[in-house]
Amino acid sequence: MTELELLVDLHRRQARLGPGSDAHTLLALQLAGLSPAPDLCVADIGCGTGASTLALADALHCPISAVDFLPGFLEELGSRATAKGLAEYIRPVVADMTCLPFAEGEFDLIWSEGAIYSMGFENGIASWKSLLKPGGVLAVSEITWLTRDRPKAIEAFWSANYPGIDTASGKLRILESQGYTPTGYFTLPASCWLDSYYRPLAAGFDAFLARHDNSEAAGHIVEEHRREQALYEAYSDQYSYGFYIARRDN
Ligand SMILES: C[S@@+](CC[C@H](N)C(=O)[O-])C[C@H]1O[C@@H](n2cnc3c(N)ncnc32)[C@H](O)[C@@H]1O
Repeated sequence: MTELELLVDLHRRQARLGPGSDAHTLLALQLAGLSPAPDLCVADIGCGTGASTLALADALHCPISAVDFLPGFLEELGSRATAKGLAEYIRPVVADMTCLPFAEGEFDLIWSEGAIYSMGFENGIASWKSLLKPGGVLAVSEITWLTRDRPKAIEAFWSANYPGIDTASGKLRILESQGYTPTGYFTLPASCWLDSYYRPLAAGFDAFLARHDNSEAAGHIVEEHRREQALYEAYSDQYSYGFYIARRDN
C-alpha cells in the first residue's frame, strides 16, 4: 500500500477529517445568511467523508456538489448520506480543487472546511470566486494564528508545513483584496480539535496498525499523528482554524 492509501484507510472511518463540528458548521451557515431553498446551488470542496456536506444538506434541503479528489472518501460520504436519509441532496464529484468542472457563476454558496490549504488560501479564494454568483457566499476554515508573537518551535513547525498561515486580520485583508466582503469570522475551540478529530482518530490507531501488520509505514503515520496532536495540545493558545465567511462583491 502506498502512503496515500494508508492515510485513506486510517481516515475514511472518521466523521471528520480535520477540526470542526456540526454546531460550528451551522454557526458559519447562520453567518452566511442563506435560508433553506430547494433551488440553492452549493458546493463543498475537499468534503472528505462529508460531515459538513451532510450538515448543510440537512439544514438547506438543496443539492450539494460534494467535491474531493479521493473517491474512497466520497464512497463513505455516500453511505453516510443514505444512512441519514440525505442521499437525494448529495452530488459526489471526484475532482481536483485546482481544476473544478463547474460553470462560472454556478453557486450561491461555496463551502470548504480544512481543505483550502491544499492549494493555498489566496489561490483558492481567487480561483473559486468565478464559480460564485455575484453576491454569492464563500465559507472556508483555514489554519490561523491567534497571537501576534509565537514561541519559536511552533512558528518553525508551521513555517515549514504551511507558510501561508497568518493572523485573521491578514486573511481578511486577502479576502478583501480578492473581491470579497467579509461578513463573519470565528475561531474553532479546542473541542473541535480534540473531541471531533484527534481523539476519535487515535481511538482507531490500534486497529489500523493491526490491519497493516504493524508495518513500518503504518507505524510512521501513527507517530506523525501523535506528534501533531501533542503539538496542538502544547500550543493550542497559539493557533486554531478560523472560519471565514465572505460575500462575492460583483
Ligand atoms: C483535512 S481534510 C478535511 C475534510 C472535510 N472537509 C472535513 O472537514 O472533514 C482535507 C480534504 O481535502 C481533500 N483534498 C486535498 N487536496 C485536494 C485537492 N487538490 N482537490 C480535491 N480535494 C482535495 C482531501 O482528500 C481531504 O478529504
